[in-house]
Order: sequence, then C-alpha cells, then structure tokens
Amino acid sequence: MLQGKKIVLGITGSIAAYKSCLIIRQLIKKGAEVQVVITPAGKEFITPITLSALTHKPVISEFFSQRDGTWNSHVDIGLWADAMLIAPATASTIGKMAHGVADNMLITTYLSMKAPVFVAPAMDLDMYAHPSTQSNLRTLQSYGNHIIEPGTGFLASKLEGKGRMEEPENIVAQLEAFFAQAEAEQSASQSMAGRKVLITAGPTYEKIDPVRFIGNYSSGKMGLAIAEECARRGAEVELVCGPVSATIPQHANIHRTDVESAQQMYEACMALYPSADAGILSAAVADFTPVTVADQKIKRTGDDMVICLKPNPDIAKSLGAIKTDRQVLVGFALETNDEESNAQSKLQKKNFDFIVLNSLRDKGAGFRTDTNKITIITPDAMQTYPLKSKAEVAVDIIDQLQSILK
Ligand code: CTP
Repeated sequence: MLQGKKIVLGITGSIAAYKSCLIIRQLIKKGAEVQVVITPAGKEFITPITLSALTHKPVISEFFSQRDGTWNSHVDIGLWADAMLIAPATASTIGKMAHGVADNMLITTYLSMKAPVFVAPAMDLDMYAHPSTQSNLRTLQSYGNHIIEPGTGFLASKLEGKGRMEEPENIVAQLEAFFAQAEAEQSASQSMAGRKVLITAGPTYEKIDPVRFIGNYSSGKMGLAIAEECARRGAEVELVCGPVSATIPQHANIHRTDVESAQQMYEACMALYPSADAGILSAAVADFTPVTVADQKIKRTGDDMVICLKPNPDIAKSLGAIKTDRQVLVGFALETNDEESNAQSKLQKKNFDFIVLNSLRDKGAGFRTDTNKITIITPDAMQTYPLKSKAEVAVDIIDQLQSILK
C-alpha cells in the first residue's frame, strides 16, 4: 500500500524525535519515498545528517537551502506529497497549525499541503491535557487532519498514558490502512467506467415572445446530482441541460449540451441516446408550447389574452420507442395524487426500466429543495426511501441503475 507513495515527514522539537528514524526506516522498507521537513527545535533533538542518510534526500528546514541558497518551495512539496505525517508533533507545532502561524518551513508546508495530513502528538500529560492543546487538536481534526494517538484518541475521557507519541509501527500501520481504504474506494467508485449515460436536467422554457416564456420551477438539482454521481463512478455523462438555476458540476467526464425548449432537448436526446448505455430523464419538460412565437413583445390591449398551445414531443416516449435490448431508460414522475398508479402507467407507456416517483405531498420532495423523498418503481417491485439530500438520492438511483445495466 505504501509502495511508491510520497510522504512528507514533519519532525518537531520533542524527545520522541529519535523515533522518527524508525518511522522513516519502516516507510522506506515498504517502498515509500520520504522527504523530511524539520523545525529549528527539531534539529536540537536529531541531526539532519542522520535523517538525510536514512531518506537519501536533503533535509528541508529553512526557507533557503543553506548549501546553495536556493529557495525551498513549500508549494511544490505540498503538490508532490501523497500524505504528510507530522511525528512527533509538539504542543507548539499543533498550536501553530491550528492557527496558521507560518513562522517556519514545516508550518508553511502544512498550509500548502494538498494531500491528507496525519499528526502524532508527543508531549507530557499536563501539556496534552491542557484545554488549549485539546482545543487545538479538535480544531485540527475539524480541518480534516487525522490525529494519530495511542489508545482511543484525545476525545477519550481518561487521559492516562496520553500525550506520549504512538509507536512507529502503529503510525505506519495507520498510514497503510488509510491508503488501502482510499484505493478500495477509488476502484469501487470507477464501477461505471466505460459506460455512457444520457441525463436530462432542469426545466424547459417555451417562448411566447422575445421576453416571455412558459417555464416551471425545476432547479435541475436532482439531475445535476445524478450526473455528478455517474461521473464519480467513472461513466461518461452526456448532460442535456435546460436553463437550470443550480450550479453545474465541473467534471472531466461530464459533457454538457445546453438547450432551452423541449424541441431542442428532444433533438439533442435523439442524437445522443443511440450511443448511450442508459438514459435518465430527470428534466421537467413542458408538455405544451405556444403555436406561434411573436416576433415582437406582445403589447397590452385591454382585452383577455389567449395563447394557443400545441403538444411538445414526448422525449421519454420517443427514447422508449428506440430503446434497444442492451439499453436502459429511467424516468421521473412528480405527482400530486394517485402517485403510484400514475407512475406505474408512465413506466409502461414510456417503456422505462424503472421510474423514480416524487410526491408533492411529501415535505422536502420535488422542486426547489436540496432534499428529496423518492419511491423507485420497477415493473415488478417498489421501494420507498427516506428523505435524503439530493446527492444521497442520486446514489440510490445509480445503485438501482447499475443493478440492471446490461
Ligand atoms: N418527459 C419527457 N418529455 C416530455 C414530458 C416528460 O421526456 N415531453 C419525461 C420526464 O423527464 C419524466 C417523465 O417523462 O422522466 C414523466 O414526466 P411527466 O411530465 O410526469 O409525464 P407526462 O407524460 O407529461 O405526464 P403528465 O400527464 O403527468 O403530465
């Protein structure tokens, strides 16, 4: 797990600094590359010569290299690393990290670090138990840093034996466990690699005249969350987007086609669906559009105003009609009454493999919310989920899609 991993090891002024030699030895034995960054106080406890002999790299401690005066770039180190480990971490360094006191190379490196950071505190019990140290450790943890300690960690009520640095082999084991989990998540998350998914999102606008349209309250959030989830799992996403108010996720796998009307959305989908493995139709498509669009702004006349509407193409039904055996089609239904039977009949009419039902009677479901409450209906089963964030709902929908992808 540590093979080829680039680790920045921060060493500070603690008696436990000698143990960092053991950490380096184990990391290197497991195939990691180690770059030491040491504080001025750290050098009082262990010499840079010992450390560079073990790591086969010059030890960084000053902003400028003492040998040739070149600048040590903390930004470059922050980009180079796969992880930063600060072991031993003194109360002083922990305090500076918590408050951004960048007065040495180690703290500037920490502040520029793009990789996960692990901190192994080392100090006597009184310093460790002090509310200030405890509060700084909590702050570091709230910033996403991993605190490595013996026993059950600093939030435990009993402090006996605390403050002492965790043993080197346990520190290295925690790094290994972290990378193992990250790799497992990464490979699981690529479970849709090689798949192509067409997703429609948002409302459509049907033009009345140059300044007016018929639209609806769809924000597009549900469709965008689905697009993000598919991209995260490695799928190529063709996102056909009406005029959405939500922010569109930036991801290399998401290719976006912007449309305004149902007719434009229909044309984009008919072109993209044949090469897709699945289509997920979350857009709130206008069922009707004005028969004529006025060239100029319609003026008030004092009389009633009548707009004559004609039906729009049913995108879902058209895709359902050209769907092949290897393709999947997923629809949405937003209903106010007779929800299940309406959704069932749409499932059949539009040739969906499953339909995601939202009821406007459920609080927190449907348009203009960050949450949703759905029921997934397949031709022979039905499952209702609790109220969740739209990102979590997207996970449920894509899990269901993956279970039937051919
Ligand atoms: N849909 C579509 N094209 C349309 C209308 C709807 O692709 N012109 C899709 C929606 O994206 C959704 C599903 O069809 O996935 C159901 O949408 P809904 O508006 O509920 O269906 P309608 O057939 O319009 O039914 P209703 O009579 O309830 O309006």
